[in-house]
Formats: sequence, C-alpha cells, structure tokens
Amino acid sequence: MKLAIMGAMPEEISPILEKIGSYKTTEYAGNKYYEATYCGVDLVLAYSKIGKVFSTLTAATMIEHFGAEKLLFSGVAGAVSPDLKVGDLVVATKLSQHDLDITAFGHPYGYVPEGSVYVDADKGLIEISKSVAAEMGLHVKEGIIATGDQFVANEERKNWIGSTFNADALEMEGGSVAVVCNALNIPFFILRAISDAADMDASFSFDEFLESSAKISAEFVMKMVEKIGK
Ligand code: ADE
Repeated sequence: MKLAIMGAMPEEISPILEKIGSYKTTEYAGNKYYEATYCGVDLVLAYSKIGKVFSTLTAATMIEHFGAEKLLFSGVAGAVSPDLKVGDLVVATKLSQHDLDITAFGHPYGYVPEGSVYVDADKGLIEISKSVAAEMGLHVKEGIIATGDQFVANEERKNWIGSTFNADALEMEGGSVAVVCNALNIPFFILRAISDAADMDASFSFDEFLESSAKISAEFVMKMVEKIGK
C-alpha cells in the first residue's frame, strides 16, 4: 500500500521530511515529490503550493503518476467555530468549496451539476485518527471544512462561510483534494491545525503560528502513519 502525504506549503511538509530523514526526490509536473518508507509504509510526499488548482494537480499526480492508494493532508487552517483556538486540531468529516457560485442558476452555493456541495472524508481514516488522539490524550474536533481560493481575513466573510456551509474551519486546498480523491476512489483524510481566526488579525496570526501549527498537524499525521504501518 502506498500512502500520499501532502501539504500546501513547505512549512507543512518539512517537519515530515525531517522526521523521515532520507528520501528520494523526483521532479515532475513542475513540482518535487519525495518517496520513502516509514514504519513499513511506502510514502510519497509533496507540498502543492497554495490553492485549489495546485492542490488538484498534486493530488492527481500523487495518485495517477506515483501510485498512491490513500491520501493524508496535513496543514493549517483558519478557525470558523469559536471553539477552535490556535494550535487546535480539526479533522474534516466533509469538505466543500465556498467560492463555487452558480447560484444565478438556482443552485446552492458550492454546487455544480453532477457534483455535490460536500465530499465525505474516509471514515476508516477518521477512526484511526480517533484512536491516535485517544493515545496522545488530545482533543481533536471533527467538523466541516470549507475551501476557497481566498485567504479569509474578514469576520463577515468568515461568518457567511460558517452559516452557509456549517463550516468549522476554512482553508484553500482540502475541498479540491477531496474532489480528486472521490473521483479516483482514493480514501482520503484532511487534518488541519488552527493558525488564525480568519478575522482582521488573520495575516499576523498566520505568520506567527504557521510553523508551530503545521508541526502539530505533521506530528499527528505521522502518528497515524505509524498506526497504519502496525
Ligand atoms: N489557512 C490558514 N488560515 C487561513 C485563512 N484565514 N484563510 C484561508 N486559508 C487559511
């Protein structure tokens, strides 16, 4: 079984590469992909660059070119739910695209014909995350993640995303990775640690906490890999 681990930014993947130590690097389709074996699990790793288009390209490449059979995403997010504070972990139960809008034709936000507003994450991988959280004595919130090509730093926009999609957190890649994995029948899991509250201070908070929150998420994902390898 080959497992993909992806992030969007270098800060989201470098803690994992450091932990693995040695890996093979391949340049393909304008990006670098890293292959290694960790705890008996064959891995392909990459950061995609920010946003739905690059994350779609990377997820599809990991599956179609590198043969990944399951995919874990690790990274940071803006909190929508007031329960979530910087450093908290959120596991996506389902994901949607908050910037997808053909409401002019009477469709709901996030919907395109022959698509769906939400894509469900894999229940088996969520179960593994629950047992890892229990072993680590961590509280991990399960919730809805909304994705869009927008860094949200505005209370009004954040609240609109929260009420329209019932979202707990928002970011810029999970919803597109979900569409790719769903179409290709690849079980996927999206984990995020909160870096900011998607409000007027979001850019400052993001800059301050990107590295520390990305590490929290990366450490958790690697515990999941260890469990998968057992
Ligand atoms: N990722 C982390 N924080 C975010 C925000 N406020 N908006 C979009 N993506 C994010």
